[in-house]
Amino acid sequence: MYGFKTLIYEKKDAIAYATLNRPNALNIYNIQMRDDLYQVLCAIKDDPDILVVIFKGAGEKAFCAGADLSEFLTAPPPTEARRIRWQRDVWGLFLSIPQPLIAVVHGYVLGSGIEIALCCDIRIASEDAQFGLPEIGLGIIPAAGATQTLPRTIGRARALDMLLTNRRIDAEEACRIGLVNKVVQREKLLETAEGLAKKIASYNPVAVRNAKQAVMRGLELPLAEGLDLEKRLALEVQLVANQTK
Ligand code: COA
Repeated sequence: MYGFKTLIYEKKDAIAYATLNRPNALNIYNIQMRDDLYQVLCAIKDDPDILVVIFKGAGEKAFCAGADLSEFLTAPPPTEARRIRWQRDVWGLFLSIPQPLIAVVHGYVLGSGIEIALCCDIRIASEDAQFGLPEIGLGIIPAAGATQTLPRTIGRARALDMLLTNRRIDAEEACRIGLVNKVVQREKLLETAEGLAKKIASYNPVAVRNAKQAVMRGLELPLAEGLDLEKRLALEVQLVANQTK
């Protein structure tokens, strides 16, 4: 187990766990969490022994209630913010992680909370989860990817409904519109994610990574180029399998 100020990072066999750990403040995302997350994501990316990662939130009330508004209100000037962002593109790093990432979300999943979940590949929610993007009500727009990752996940109209109306949706609706893959009872949340993680980890790791890569990169490409990419990645899986025979 590796302790950071705002995150707990653990490894059990081939599965890693990253827990947002500011339970008294609903796991809100601050500059310290950004720095901790950056380190954890670098560690995950560079660790060939980790085959699947589970992201979760500590405490009873929230996965993450968004950005820390106390820090936001004392935000650095835009040039400084841009410099920090350039040096630490945590969201770009998140989306470039080769291993499958599973978000298990409960309670409040707001603002950056949704954005962290959207950087993951599979989302499992407990029945009490509530999702929303409060940014528009604060006179800002999301800046951790939601304007891009949300429409790619649930489609333009549904994404704009969430982005423009500040409407909160419950777990059942989130599942219906494809924001989460599955809703389970709160007490079954981690067990369900671990079952899934173990299943994925039991498969050929090269096939798993290449399947993720084909989807992630392919979504940004015209179909013909995506099919070429798939061909190359499928061949690579085959070649690695032949080499290890
Ligand atoms: N920024 C800073 N502090 C926050 C916060 C945020 N985004 N969200 C919650 N907190 C703090 C609260 O101030 C409170 O601190 P305190 O115990 O020192 O008073 C603590 O977290 C618990 O929150 P509280 O409001 O008491 O819980 P609640 O169950 O009554 O309400 C929410 C929960 C999520 C509805 C409410 O906290 C809220 O609306 N938060 C803001 C959400 C938001 O706008 N996030 C997006 C920012 S882009």
